[in-house]
Amino acid sequence: MKIVVIGGTGLIGSKTVAILRQRGHAVIAASPKSGVNTITGEGVKEAVAGAQVVIDLANSPSFEDKAVLEFFETSGRNLLAAEEAAGVRHHVALSIVGIDRSDNGYFRAKVAQEKLIRTSGIPYTIIRSTQFLEFLRGIADSSMDGNSVRLPPVLFQPIAADDVAANVADVALAAPRNGIVEIAGPERAPFNDVVARYLKAVGDPREVVRDPEAPYWGGRVEERSLVPLGEARLGRIGLDEWLRR
Ligand SMILES: NC(=O)c1ccc[n+]([C@@H]2O[C@H](COP(=O)([O-])OP(=O)(O)OC[C@H]3O[C@@H](n4cnc5c(N)ncnc54)[C@H](OP(=O)(O)O)[C@@H]3O)[C@@H](O)[C@H]2O)c1
Repeated sequence: MKIVVIGGTGLIGSKTVAILRQRGHAVIAASPKSGVNTITGEGVKEAVAGAQVVIDLANSPSFEDKAVLEFFETSGRNLLAAEEAAGVRHHVALSIVGIDRSDNGYFRAKVAQEKLIRTSGIPYTIIRSTQFLEFLRGIADSSMDGNSVRLPPVLFQPIAADDVAANVADVALAAPRNGIVEIAGPERAPFNDVVARYLKAVGDPREVVRDPEAPYWGGRVEERSLVPLGEARLGRIGLDEWLRR
C-alpha cells in the first residue's frame, strides 16, 4: 500500500516510516527537505497521488501563538485539499490529549487542525497522545522561573516516541475510525515529580518547585487536564526504561 508520511523526517515521522517500510509498504517520507511543503503546496499533489493513506506528523517550526495557528491551519487546508483530489482513503493525524481542556496557543492550533480534519469529508483517525518523554527537557526549559523549574502537581503520563510511532503505524493500517484514539505512557504520576526524576537522572542540577498555580505552556491546568479521561492505549516504555535506552 502507498502511504505518505508528512513530516516523515521528524521525531515520530522517521520512526513511523521505518516501521511501515519494515512491514512492506511503499512509504514516502515527505518534508520540505525532500521537496514536499504543505505550507507553500510544493510537491504535495505529486506526493499524495495514488496514496491510500496519508499520515500527518508535521510540526510548526515556530511555537509562537499566531505562527503555530497559521501553520496548522494552512498546512491542514493544503494537505486535505490535495488528499480529496487524489481520493485518499484514510487521513491520520497526531494530536494531543486534553487540547480542549486547557488553553494555550499551541493547543488552540491543534484544535483548529482537528476541526479541519473532522469537516474535510475524508475518512480519518485522530490520535491524541500525551506528551513525549523526549519532550521533557523542552518542558523543563519552558517552565523556568529564575534558576528553578516551576510545575503544577497535576497528573502526567508521558509516552516514549517509539511507543507513539508503533501506535501511529497500527492506526494507519487499520480502518478509519472517523473519531479519536487516545494513547499514553504506562505510568501516571505528578507532573513535577516526573520532571524532577528526569532531571536528576540526566544529571541536570535544576530544582523542580511544586506549584499548584504554575501554568503549562501559559495555560491553567487541573488534576486531569493532561491525561486521558477514558480508555487509552498504553505504551510499554516507562521513564526508567526510556532512560536506560
Ligand atoms: N511534543 C509532544 O509531546 C507532542 C505530544 C502529542 C502530539 N504531538 C504532535 O506530534 C506531531 C509530530 O511531532 P514531532 O515532535 O515528531 O515533530 P518534529 O520532530 O519537530 O518534526 C517535524 C516534522 O515536520 C516537518 N515539517 C515542518 N514544516 C513542514 C512543512 N511546511 N511541510 C511539510 N512538513 C513540514 C519537518 O520537516 P523537515 O525535517 O524537512 O524540517 C519534520 O519532518 C506534531 O503534530 C505535534 O503537534 C507532540
